Amino acid sequence: MPDAPTVRDDVPPHAWAGVHRGPLRPGEWVRLTDQKGRRHNFELVEGKRFFSNRGHLEHDELIGREEGFTVTSSAGGEYLVFRPLLSEFVVSMPRGAAVVYPKDAAQIVAMADIFPGATVVEAGAGSGALSCSLLRAVGPHGQLVSFERREEFADVARRNVTQFFGGDHPAWDLRVGDLVEQLPTLTEPVDRIILDMLAPWECVDVVADALAPGGIVCAYVATTTQLSRIVETLRAHGGFTEPQPWESLVRDWHVEGLAVRPGHKMIGHTAFLVTARRMAPGQRPPTKKRRPAPGAYGPDYTGPRPADLPSQVGLETTEG
Ligand SMILES: C[S@@+](CC[C@H](N)C(=O)[O-])C[C@H]1O[C@@H](n2cnc3c(N)ncnc32)[C@H](O)[C@@H]1O
Repeated sequence: MPDAPTVRDDVPPHAWAGVHRGPLRPGEWVRLTDQKGRRHNFELVEGKRFFSNRGHLEHDELIGREEGFTVTSSAGGEYLVFRPLLSEFVVSMPRGAAVVYPKDAAQIVAMADIFPGATVVEAGAGSGALSCSLLRAVGPHGQLVSFERREEFADVARRNVTQFFGGDHPAWDLRVGDLVEQLPTLTEPVDRIILDMLAPWECVDVVADALAPGGIVCAYVATTTQLSRIVETLRAHGGFTEPQPWESLVRDWHVEGLAVRPGHKMIGHTAFLVTARRMAPGQRPPTKKRRPAPGAYGPDYTGPRPADLPSQVGLETTEG
């Protein structure tokens, strides 16, 4: 029988979750929401004032109170006061590169199966938004190695992640460098690799070498051309299961008395996601029984071709 897991009593369950409890303290960030739903995020500093179009508020009026209260500004504006949630923090924090939106970070954590104690690699770190979700999911006993090739973006990521967790997360290893050059320097197999970059297909070979058998690669790409290229490159490699591409659409609803209808606004498109699992060394997935769609790999197709594609199959044109 495997050893029963040991419960570490030196790490409380909520440690390094980025969640703070108790009265608001100087140095913490708060999120104020006004009566029109506008949000203001700022750091609490003793003796400082927050100004808005409805007068001002003393930070000292907020410090020392339990979050979840309404405060009135000098000109009579009412503000709801909470600490920001992770999903609120990442869309309001300073950005270098574009961030992974919370709806997609949630999909990545679930569908790339990020678990407590996992060894995870991501590239690029960008602004550190996804790093926060991954660190929360792996916890203090996991490991997240984040590669970022632009030093100035790595600095932004470091500041954001440190601010969110209130210190240097013990599971985080942020490295400046290109994934293709740096990933081979890791000596232990990796459970999960998340790629959020312009050209993830350039990384498929090093990802395959670094992933443990059964490990998952997950790519996040904004355009259909990128989606096609990463899926076909994973297929052509031959050492991954059939890639699973999808996107998630989230629509909020207006619910008020008899007026129950979809909201007028929704985020129509953020990006596509693709996952595939690493086969054991030397193993290939079963040969596909289904033929490719007519013309899928016709004369206009110039990308990588599946390793098991019989000659002439899928080459037909769709016209005529
Ligand atoms: C869209 S941003 C990542 C955003 C990040 N996931 C977040 O949620 O904040 C893409 C980043 O990938 C970096 N990048 C692109 N190719 C890379 C590579 N081969 N190795 C390391 N970083 C790379 C870019 O410099 C950029 O900062």
